[in-house]
Amino acid sequence: MRKSLVAAALAVLATSLPVSLSTASAATTSQCSTPTTGYGRMFPSLSSASWDASALTALGTTSIAAAETNPTPEGQVDSEDNKDIPAGYTYFGQFVDHDLTFDDRPNDLVTPTAVSSLVNGRTPQLDLDSLYGSGPSTSSNLYEADGVHLKVGAPLTGSTDTGARDLPRDATGKALIGDPRNDENRIVAGVHSLFIRLHNQTVDRIHTSEPNLSNSALFARARQEVTWNYQWLIVTDYLPKIAGQQAVNSVINRTQSGWNTNLRFYDACQQMPVEFSVAAYRFGHSMVRGLYRINDSVNRLPVFSGTFIPTSDLTGFSPSPSNFAIDWKFFVPGSGNGLGQAQASYKIDGSLTNSLSLLPLPTTGIGPANLATRNLLRGQQLGLPSGQDVARAMGVTPLRDDQILVGKASGDAADAQAITSVSPTFAGKAPLWSYILAESVANAYPISGGAITGPQRAPVRLGPVGGRIVTETIAGLLASDPSSIVNHREFSPRGQGVPAGVFDLQTLVNVVTRPTAVNPPPTPPTTAPRPTTTTTRPAPAPQPPRQDLRPPFVAPRPTPPILRPRN
Ligand code: HEM
Repeated sequence: MRKSLVAAALAVLATSLPVSLSTASAATTSQCSTPTTGYGRMFPSLSSASWDASALTALGTTSIAAAETNPTPEGQVDSEDNKDIPAGYTYFGQFVDHDLTFDDRPNDLVTPTAVSSLVNGRTPQLDLDSLYGSGPSTSSNLYEADGVHLKVGAPLTGSTDTGARDLPRDATGKALIGDPRNDENRIVAGVHSLFIRLHNQTVDRIHTSEPNLSNSALFARARQEVTWNYQWLIVTDYLPKIAGQQAVNSVINRTQSGWNTNLRFYDACQQMPVEFSVAAYRFGHSMVRGLYRINDSVNRLPVFSGTFIPTSDLTGFSPSPSNFAIDWKFFVPGSGNGLGQAQASYKIDGSLTNSLSLLPLPTTGIGPANLATRNLLRGQQLGLPSGQDVARAMGVTPLRDDQILVGKASGDAADAQAITSVSPTFAGKAPLWSYILAESVANAYPISGGAITGPQRAPVRLGPVGGRIVTETIAGLLASDPSSIVNHREFSPRGQGVPAGVFDLQTLVNVVTRPTAVNPPPTPPTTAPRPTTTTTRPAPAPQPPRQDLRPPFVAPRPTPPILRPRN
């Protein structure tokens, strides 16, 4: 519902005052008694922004890059490569999305819908319910008969990671995992599989040192350790990569006395904010590359090709081709022996790779297969405020219209345009999602007149609006969870293969895939493996040197069909 202009202006003034909603150390952090099951707003006093659906569709179409008929050869830098964020972080980010928010509704993208009516299919906590479901008793199909180990899938080949596994599946090929979206593409499935193996290895290690623990105590201990390492990874590695260390430090930091959080806009006990789930955290869509090398034995493939032939792309929701093991050296610098070979993510900019206009949807009644258009229609359906209004509410000077670029941040003027060139109806009010993507570009490059006008001056990361929404939501969710690392200052990563005090994406990969790791015994595939590709990688071109380097609470939900329009 729209507020009067005066009320809205007063509200903006109030929210722009530099007052913290909550500045807390762990000992005084306000905690919610139970996690909420709904969605809410971070900026409830801001008016909804609206546009003609045709303008949003045009913006969605313009936000999709043309199909790459002549892709940049491997080893050469693509103009969309973001040298500061390796490709593995895209799919770790998607894995985090699937742990936090799941607006599992019918595919009506246009009927205005009250945010208060939405139900979140995930706990709004970084508790890995996407991995553990509702735990061994309620989600017994995810677990081995001991109720402690998670099931693993068929062995996969093609990578130096000899313990690589497909997701566990039933006889129909459906993945037996806590969130079906983690089977949407082979890379996010690979991240999920790493976490299954991490859990099982952690169980075995704890059992070796404490053989008298009961199964339920053993499970609880392993889950807690895995979850805390995961939370540590998010705060100390993932967030700094996508938002910058300084931006993270201003929201959450750790001192000798424990964790401190400084939340200016997010009330940690409210629901999952739609500004996060429908706009800011969807920034990751622009990081998806056109083509991925997953290992040395399969040629580069797009995420989706629209062909529905398993070996022609990385679409999931079916058993993986047997030679599609992910070789993490192509995704995470310094993992295994692949230092320097990791592919970059694509820049966080106003451009999505073409394959994201080919979502593998069922054929009827599902809305557009263009992910950019879906994001924009969802934002309008749920009444998000404009990016400029959110910036003002944060005390940030909004971008001018000519600084809000749609398209690739390649530096080539032909690759991008000002949002008002797509439709004048966007003047002074850009959809929050598009605004946040453009802000990332405007932070990194000088822009005027709808074009990049000079060389890159900063890493391409989330800007002040996007970065603050994402870091405050994640920090707030951790602070409001009594069982999180933020409320357990005694926790610091340690253990077999873990450098003291460090658990980053590289550590995750190295710990799980190290040859000495105890990997689960082979489990026979539940379905016959699909035909495999036998392509061989061409000799790699020389690479330029790189600089980069809770308790369970789940309302059980019906499992959706295999091919579904969700990520
Ligand atoms: C190949 C990669 C990906 C695909 C194909 C994909 C696809 C999708 C689809 C189809 C939706 C539902 C759109 C709608 O109908 O509203 C969605 C939602 C979403 N995506 Fe992605 N996505 C990908 C990667 C990512 C990444 C990397 C992130 C963040 C880092 C992300 C964050 C989100 C979020 C926050 C939602 C809303 C979830 C909810 O609340 O239900 N996605 N994605």
